[in-house]
Amino acid sequence: FCGYPSTVKFFKLRKFYPSFFFSEKLLVLTVATEETDGFRRFMQSANYFNYTVKVLGMGEAWKGGDVGRSIGGGQKVKLLKKAMEDLADQEDLVVLSVDSYDLIFAGGPEEILRKFQQANHKVLFAAEGLIWPDKRLSDKYPSVRSGKRYLNSGGIIGYAPYINRIVSQWNLHDNDDDQLFYTKIYLDPLQRVSIETLNMTLDHKCQIFQNLNGAVDEVLLKFGTGRVRVRNTAYDSLPVVVHGNGNTKMYLNYLGNYVPNAWNYEHGCSHCDDDVVDLSQLKVSEYPNVLVGVFIEQPTPFLPEFFQRLLTLDYPKDKLKIFVHNNEVYHEKHIQRFWEENRNVFSSFKVVGPEENLSQGEARNMGMDLCRKDATCDYYFSIDSDVMLTNRQTVKLLIEQNRKIIGPLVTRHSKLWSNFWGALSLDGYYARSEDYVDIVQRKRVGVWNIPYMAHVYLVKGSVLRNELKERNYFVLEKLDPDMALCRNAREMGVFMYITNRHDFGRLISTANYNISHYNNDLWQIFENPVDWKEKYIHQNYTRIFTENFLEQPCPDVFWFPVFSVKACDEIVEEMEHYGSWSGGKHEDKRISGGYETVPTDDIHMKQIGFDKEWLHFIREFISPVTLKVFSGYYTKGYAIMNFVVKYTPERQAYLRPHHDSSTFTINIALNNKDTDFQGGGCRFHRYNCSIESPRKGWSFMHPGRLTHLHEGLPTTNGTRYIAVSFIDP
Ligand SMILES: *[C@@H]1O[C@H](CO)[C@@H](O)[C@H](O)[C@H]1NC(C)=O
Ligand SMILES: *[C@@H]1O[C@H](CO)[C@@H](O)[C@H](O)[C@H]1NC(C)=O
Ligand SMILES: *[C@@H]1O[C@H](CO)[C@@H](O)[C@H](O)[C@H]1NC(C)=O
Ligand SMILES: *[C@@H]1O[C@H](CO)[C@@H](O)[C@H](O)[C@H]1NC(C)=O
Ligand SMILES: *[C@@H]1O[C@H](CO)[C@@H](O)[C@H](O)[C@H]1NC(C)=O
Ligand SMILES: *[C@@H]1O[C@H](CO)[C@@H](O)[C@H](O)[C@H]1NC(C)=O
Ligand SMILES: *[C@@H]1O[C@H](CO)[C@@H](O)[C@H](O)[C@H]1NC(C)=O
Repeated sequence: FCGYPSTVKFFKLRKFYPSFFFSEKLLVLTVATEETDGFRRFMQSANYFNYTVKVLGMGEAWKGGDVGRSIGGGQKVKLLKKAMEDLADQEDLVVLSVDSYDLIFAGGPEEILRKFQQANHKVLFAAEGLIWPDKRLSDKYPSVRSGKRYLNSGGIIGYAPYINRIVSQWNLHDNDDDQLFYTKIYLDPLQRVSIETLNMTLDHKCQIFQNLNGAVDEVLLKFGTGRVRVRNTAYDSLPVVVHGNGNTKMYLNYLGNYVPNAWNYEHGCSHCDDDVVDLSQLKVSEYPNVLVGVFIEQPTPFLPEFFQRLLTLDYPKDKLKIFVHNNEVYHEKHIQRFWEENRNVFSSFKVVGPEENLSQGEARNMGMDLCRKDATCDYYFSIDSDVMLTNRQTVKLLIEQNRKIIGPLVTRHSKLWSNFWGALSLDGYYARSEDYVDIVQRKRVGVWNIPYMAHVYLVKGSVLRNELKERNYFVLEKLDPDMALCRNAREMGVFMYITNRHDFGRLISTANYNISHYNNDLWQIFENPVDWKEKYIHQNYTRIFTENFLEQPCPDVFWFPVFSVKACDEIVEEMEHYGSWSGGKHEDKRISGGYETVPTDDIHMKQIGFDKEWLHFIREFISPVTLKVFSGYYTKGYAIMNFVVKYTPERQAYLRPHHDSSTFTINIALNNKDTDFQGGGCRFHRYNCSIESPRKGWSFMHPGRLTHLHEGLPTTNGTRYIAVSFIDP
């Protein structure tokens, strides 16, 4: 057994022990044929308390049956029997035989020995409220006034000669049931109570052993200084050995996020930096190879931005292979564009499109399998198109955390919606764990063992070729593909973690994504406001408020950056795509009265179905500027006339002097002087003041109907576009 060379202390037999030197008198025996995640966790808790542990059966083939689902476990008794032969005459030695894959120590050896001595028996078994595997034996059990009545073989403590006398009776098969074997001995009154024989009892009130099956509601975490314990509220006890027997592995995983010292309020996470991989020690050429599986399973806003973030990940690109499953014809143009520009950036780039008609589960199987089959694939990084990774270090940080499966926490902006579940309901769907909100809000920071995650995660290639070597994990009964994967991983005993040690990014909403416009993301201001702002609002907009980043080229004409280049371009494209320019006629059916005295060649926002979004934009991004420059004036942010004007020498080149029917007006330049047009600009007569070089994405804001008589100066060449709103008419 070579996993824990520095921490396992090999047991030395000594004839007499000073009575105060408790820990030397207790030997923990456990059977583990593999170093599962659960086994590592067990050893971590044992080492923390300095238990002396002897592991039996490591590396042997497991023949004890699938104890999770049926009877079995006889192999454990056989191994214990053999180990006890050498210890049989150690009268002062107390042996603790426990399971390890689903068990954690919550207290130390001194406490166990003290409690064992208080129990005043030679052998003590763990107890539980449910009888297993033979319900017919129920009547044979001694009745108990309070406490758990039935034996559980996941924990046995006793003096070595007595344990030996029990296990030496074993002569069954490896796949016979260990619990039934112990039960029969316990239920034999002659063996149970006679002092010459075994003198056994059960730990009815969970002084030492807490079996969680049927008892999840009895236990609570108890945060102390330093350590975290489990308290049994039914018996007011602090059990030392916590066992996730039966269906309670997930609950044990939750407890194990804290007990005994994994996380507490004082020091936070204590194992987060254990066994980490330090990539900074590697040359870039030695970085692990990562296959990135990208899944576009529904129309997704901000897909070009998603791909840009992939491109800007801080990871050597020649170590990244990209596999894209795109289920949407709509997105083919986005992928095509990205592929043309970047196909040679990555080590490889493979796209499976909608024409393949793959189900989501099949596509995810395919991506995972590409890594599994490629022995050079060190990690599989699966990411769905609705994950906006804002942290460029994400892949590195996940690799460094060195877990078999780990996802970065991503959440829907300002919502409790995230990519993991802290607990599952009985039918396998979402249930809220006690710590869910604190983890999502990063009030508890660490690496969390959780039962379900989706959207983005990293899996070790070696795990795909070992524990998860089957090919079909995403298709299981009628489960969603990610639920299927997680259930498979749980059943294989592979722990899944979510880390919230860093800010990684967010989940965007794909609901209500209408793709019948030309530039559909423009409409996402309500559904995905953060991404909308990032894409469409000028980089320097917030500096208006922090650094007074605005100008006043004419009296009471304020000039400030508001739209990004993309916003300008997409609005113009949207209008040209719509195409029905008004022609600048006085007769105008679109407005009340049907007559416009100072007509422009324009398209109203309402005509392209953008009026609600536009008004929201005004309230969110224009109103704060109004309040700043016209202090004391509180705009309602309301406007009826919202439109894009097109000036061109061939159609309408200028606009004669006029007032606007507004309290104030905004006028945003949507393209560039000199490159897109010549001429243009705006002149305010009262102040004899002209602005002849409008800037793309910048807006004017000026009073409308009294002081600021103005005209649009002629565009002499090319086409000039502006977006205008008459606010608070
Ligand atoms: C375990 O042993 C180490 C080294 O002897 C000691 O520092 C530590 O306090 C012990 N842990 C406990 C929980 O007793
Ligand atoms: C069991 O053993 C303890 C000493 O370890 C003794 O005090 C007790 O009387 C015994 N019980 C029975 C029922 O023999
Ligand atoms: C795509 O697959 C589904 C289900 O597998 C099937 O019902 C459908 O006919 C397929 N469509 C095409 C175009 O092959
Ligand atoms: C999507 O947008 C189109 C074009 O503006 C509109 O006709 C349609 O009603 C919208 N669909 C939904 C579901 O909102
Ligand atoms: C923001 O302002 C800085 C100068 O302060 C300028 O260099 C930068 O180009 C501006 N950003 C944009 C998008 O115009
Ligand atoms: C307006 O300003 C220009 C120079 O900017 C000047 O030549 C002209 O005389 C001014 N007109 C009036 C009426 O002040
Ligand atoms: C008008 O613009 C076009 C390109 O947009 C350019 O080729 C042409 O020279 C310009 N004409 C004048 C008179 O500036």
